[in-house]
Amino acid sequence: MNILVTGGTGFIGSHTVVELINNGHNAILMDNLINSSEIVLKRIEKITGIMPTFYKVDMLDKEKLGEIFDKEHIDCVIHFAGLKAVGESVKEPYKYYNNNLCGSLNLIEAMNRHGVKNIIFSSSATVYGKNVIVPITEECPKGECTNPYGWTKSMLEQIFCDIQKADEKWNVVLLRYFNPIGAHPSGLIGEDPNGIPNNLMPFITQVAIGKLKELGIFGNDYDTPDGTGVRDYIHVVDLAKAHVKALKKIEDNSGLSIYNLGTGNGYSVLDVVKSFEKVNGIKIPYSFKPRRAGDIASCYASANKAYSELGWKAEFDIDDMVRDSWNFQKKNPNGYGDQ
Ligand code: WQD
Repeated sequence: MNILVTGGTGFIGSHTVVELINNGHNAILMDNLINSSEIVLKRIEKITGIMPTFYKVDMLDKEKLGEIFDKEHIDCVIHFAGLKAVGESVKEPYKYYNNNLCGSLNLIEAMNRHGVKNIIFSSSATVYGKNVIVPITEECPKGECTNPYGWTKSMLEQIFCDIQKADEKWNVVLLRYFNPIGAHPSGLIGEDPNGIPNNLMPFITQVAIGKLKELGIFGNDYDTPDGTGVRDYIHVVDLAKAHVKALKKIEDNSGLSIYNLGTGNGYSVLDVVKSFEKVNGIKIPYSFKPRRAGDIASCYASANKAYSELGWKAEFDIDDMVRDSWNFQKKNPNGYGDQ
């Protein structure tokens, strides 16, 4: 299939492009490069032997966006493009609602105009909000999001659901990611956040490489086995492979489908630190800090539905994730900025 991957040079987008190409699909990438680097294209070519078609386009630019659909015969869109820094979204809500919502509405308008009615949307477990019963199933109702970023994911899910309900020619797959970490085993592509990392794994790897002094652990008084926050970390390659499997629901004209993408295992912050130290032989200095606003104690998935309906389950474990995260950081001390 010809697949337009919006946000295709980003962390999850680039790993998904590799798996799409490995499975014989033609991936066409679109990205505004605000949070990623064009270097990724050469890295994808190194891994797959194929240099994908790339359009440097911002989804807020309706004209340029439409031109992609004029030039390419798109069968399906995998939609990753969007701002995703939780903390930044609290400080700049308009920027997040405008970019993520208006940008996505522009995409939907271009798709409709060109008769493209197949989309796989990059959603997030954050749509479940704070009052969750773990393991979280897809039947768990969506909740109160704790930040504008999360609300944009929740609102976009609603938009896609309503569009599909109004026009059954649409096939919509919502994939709710838990905590994506790790990197392609080659170390050629990985997570390269702008500035000081918000998320745990890139923070740990930057402590390990000496860019940051120590890890601050946000809270050790949660109702969890060791008092630190528990999350369902999933290897980004496992996540990428789930997108290829999800294409089955598009080919089968299945209408609306919703899946949690997690391993079903919860690991605490201290579990991740201990795994990183054991696997990579590097000590991670840390100190306990007050809880971070918006954090919940424990969040992990039931991944049974993705297994029974897509035949997908995560294969990498936490040791693989911390190994591959460090391998990318070690080979790219300053991320893609090195080149
Ligand atoms: C994980 C755990 C922190 C940093 C976020 C988004 C979510 C999704 C994944 C996109 C928590 C602790 C973290 C640090 C710490 N993103 N931590 N010190 O918050 O579970 O989810 O990323 O869809 O939408 O909300 O991930 O990596 O920020 O935190 O102690 O310096 O690590 O308290 O327990 P989170 P995270």
